[in-house]
Parts: sequence; C-alpha cells; structure tokens
Amino acid sequence: MTGSTSWKRTRVNKPTLRHYGSRSAALLCLLLISLVLTPLASSQGLTGKWAGLWRTLDNGEEDPMYLDLYQEGSKITGTITTIGHIWQVNGTATGNRFEIFFSPRDKKPRVTGELAGSELHLTREDAQFTAVAAKPGDAYPPFEHMTLPALHDVPPNNLAALPPMGWNSWNLFQNNIDDKTVRAIADEMVANGMRDAGYVYINLDDTWEGVRDAQGNLQANHKFPDMKGLADYVHARGMKLGIYSSPGPRTCAEYPGSYGNEEQDARTFASWGIDYLKYDWCGARMLYKNEDMQALYQKMGDALRKADRPVVYSLCQYGNAKVETWGAKVGGNLWRTTGDISDTWTSMIANIEKQVPTAPYAGPGHWNDPDMLEIGNGGMTDEEYRTHMSLWAVTASPLLAGNDIRKMSPAVKSILLNKEVLAVDQDALGKQASPTRAGDVETWVKPLADGSVAVAVVNLGASATTAKVQADKLGMPGQAFSARDLWAHTTVPLQKGTYTAALASHGVVMLRVAPANTATKQ
Ligand code: GLA
Repeated sequence: MTGSTSWKRTRVNKPTLRHYGSRSAALLCLLLISLVLTPLASSQGLTGKWAGLWRTLDNGEEDPMYLDLYQEGSKITGTITTIGHIWQVNGTATGNRFEIFFSPRDKKPRVTGELAGSELHLTREDAQFTAVAAKPGDAYPPFEHMTLPALHDVPPNNLAALPPMGWNSWNLFQNNIDDKTVRAIADEMVANGMRDAGYVYINLDDTWEGVRDAQGNLQANHKFPDMKGLADYVHARGMKLGIYSSPGPRTCAEYPGSYGNEEQDARTFASWGIDYLKYDWCGARMLYKNEDMQALYQKMGDALRKADRPVVYSLCQYGNAKVETWGAKVGGNLWRTTGDISDTWTSMIANIEKQVPTAPYAGPGHWNDPDMLEIGNGGMTDEEYRTHMSLWAVTASPLLAGNDIRKMSPAVKSILLNKEVLAVDQDALGKQASPTRAGDVETWVKPLADGSVAVAVVNLGASATTAKVQADKLGMPGQAFSARDLWAHTTVPLQKGTYTAALASHGVVMLRVAPANTATKQ
C-alpha cells in the first residue's frame, strides 16, 4: 500500500532565453512555442491521469495522490484518490489555475493548483507538491470486500451507566498530539479537579497509529513510543485511556484502520490496557455502503467482547443509517448523531438540534453523542460556551472536553467544572431533554431521578430577551416549588410557579426545579 517513490516532486525545466542569441530570435521562438503548445493545452487542459506525492504520514507511510481529471471548458470533474479516500470531485479552471472541491458542502476548495507545462503544481492543506502524468499501474490496489457477518445482538457490556466524561485529543490538537502532551493533560486533570468531577477518560483520537508488524499487530507511531506505559501512567492516576480506529482499511486521517484485523486489534488494545474505543466510519466509505454499517460495527463489538477487557465502545458514523436504532445492538455505548462539530456557535447549535429526534434512544449504557466539547477552544464567547455545556448536560450527552486543559481561563475552568450542571448530565435516570421553541427562545426540560427537573432556556437570537420558566409546563405536580440557578449557584424564587430572568443573546438560564419540600441545594 505504500506509494511508489516515482511520485516525488519533479523540477519544471523552464527554457532560458539566452540560448537563442538575440532578443528578436527569442521572441520568435516564444511565439512558435506558444503556437505549438496552446492548442495542446486548451484541447487537453487538466484532462488525464496524474500522480504526485501529497505527504508522508506520521508513521512514515507515503500518501500519493492520484488524480483522474476531465476538463470541459472551465468545468472539471473526476476522481482524486489518496491512501485512504476516493473523492468524486468537481472544480473550475480559470486559465492555467484551478480549484477542486470534494463535496458541494465544501466552503473552500480542497485542492488548488496550476497547470505548468506538463506538470500540476498542487496545494492541499499545508502541502505544496507536484503531480506528473501517471504511468501505467499508478493506482492503489483495490481492497477486497470482507464477507459481512449475519446480524445478531451483542450482549451489553454493562459499561457507561452514565454518559462518559473525559477528554479527547482531536478538536484542538488533531495530529499534533504525543505521549508527553497526553501525560501532561492527565496530570493537569488530576490537579485541577477534573478527574474528581468525573472526567476520567483520556482519549487519543486519530494519528496515533503506526504500521502493522510482520505478525499483523498494529503498532503505535513514534509519537506514542510506549502505549502500555501510557495506559499504566493514566491508570496510576485513577483515569482511563481511550483509543481510536476505523472499520475501514484506513482512518479519516488515512492511518491504518482495523478492517480485516478486528479481533487482532481488539486484543492489542486489551494488551495495552485500553478502556475506550472510538470507531470511526470514514475510511470504510471506500468499500462499504451505509447499509453495511451495522454488520461492520457488530464485528468490532464482538471482537471487543472476545478480547475480554471492559472497553466503552463509541460508534462514530455521524448519525447515519439510523444508528440510534441499532447502536446498542452492536454493543455500542454511545454513537455520534451528527457530523463533526467545529468551534462556532452555528456548528454547536446545529449539532444539538440534529440530536433531538434521537431522544427516545438515550439511556443508561447507551447514549446519543452530538460530538465532543469545544469549550475553551476560543471560537465562542464564554456566554456561548455556558450554553454549549448546558445543552450537552440536559441532553445527557457524553462530555469529552476538547481543549488544552493546561491552559484554561478561569471562566472556561468554571464552565467545565460546574458540578451542579455536571450532576444534570450525570443524572441516573439518563433522560435526554427535548426542546420547545417560542420565537428565538428554546426551553429544554430534563426529568431527573429525584423527581426534580432541569430546565435550560436558551436564546438563539441576536438580541437580549427574557427567560420565563413556568413550573406547570415542566410536568411537575403541586403548587410550591424551589429552584436553583445552576450558573449563578443561588436559590431563586418561583413566585406563583413562574421565574423570569434576563437572557442574553446566545445565553442560557439553567435551573433545577423541585417540589418545595425537596432539597435542591448541591
Ligand atoms: C472524523 C471524526 C472526528 C475525528 C476525525 C479524526 O472526522 O468525526 O471526530 O475523529 O475523524 O480523523
């Protein structure tokens, strides 16, 4: 699977004018050259098969890019294949320059470039590289489909009675994560009280992977020289270690996935002392359809069970194929309900709204996951991060911090460590709140195990407004109520069963309301 070295960057040989003796001879030559070349370029343009070395992965594997393009006028269509993905692409050419999009949803082109003589000079993400005409055989060998197992119910592993809490490396660090950073994050989570507040999983996301050894055992790459040692370190601090893989041959970031090696990888993870697996669909798209998801996730569910170590199983397939209806059957403890979150108000709100229809499927042992937290990553205001935390708590969502724990502002720390809000998320009843909407104001109500309810009133609008909480709309019997404001940490009056408070744009008022004789103090 590694790329051939023939795709290395080649130099453009530009003709130099001094070879032609005089200025006029040079101009004549230029004219002749352009007469010869122009029809060729405009009739062919980008059309053809190209190959170039895009990048080298952190495990040393080369990731060549093969482009099979067709240009008609300014329109470009075709396929771009890398080590882990096949993209049906569309793009536009303007003169010799072009931009290529992988999906109509892309806001920016994924690949840009220039046709320079017989080469393409390409830019993708931070990498600039050259592609040349592909030679016969320049393609990734096809993968074989595995026979998919018949569906059956994987017995529950009895883990995750409450929504999992911890930290994950992806949202902020992406591929810039290593053993040293993870140990420092674990230490800080002990020191700052996060572990004791319940954040116990330290989850490595994509790009930890090395290559398989001669026996097919997947190794970690140079960033994680001693995975067992890292797990021991995390365990010694009373925390747990999570890892990431894919049902596909490659992960989303194109590192080796568990395709065809499920049992062996589950055993490897168990031997390292792994406690949590996030299993990400992405790279399986090359081979399988959404209808195949259940069988492929079941395969790893069975493999984890056979490896005989308690491992929380987190399905990551962006909420496709109605995962909430079968996630628990494949042994899943949580499943993503959405695409990837980003650190913006719009993305955060879109993710939580997308989770709404899945509410009936949340409960002890199996949770809907609107993706990891962005709190503290800098793209939202503290007000918006309070709303983010409140919404994740009332929906009983997993709470996986995604920021640099070592560098938190006091405000961010107080948001992640608000124990009254955490208690709502971690309530034993495990109910996922659903919202009602009036104008820009949404009210989310979550019944709690002690008979009280948590209410989050959120202002989606651009102007300040008033939050109104009415006890008779919370499904609570009786006349007298007591309430805690979970962000102000005060007891608030519910006169005649109603509480009103100022509500900032994108802000939240979060209460815990109980019949008056029930203690609501934390
Ligand atoms: C997908 C997942 C993300 C993250 C990346 C890693 O995009 O949805 O949460 O795991 O892959 O490559």
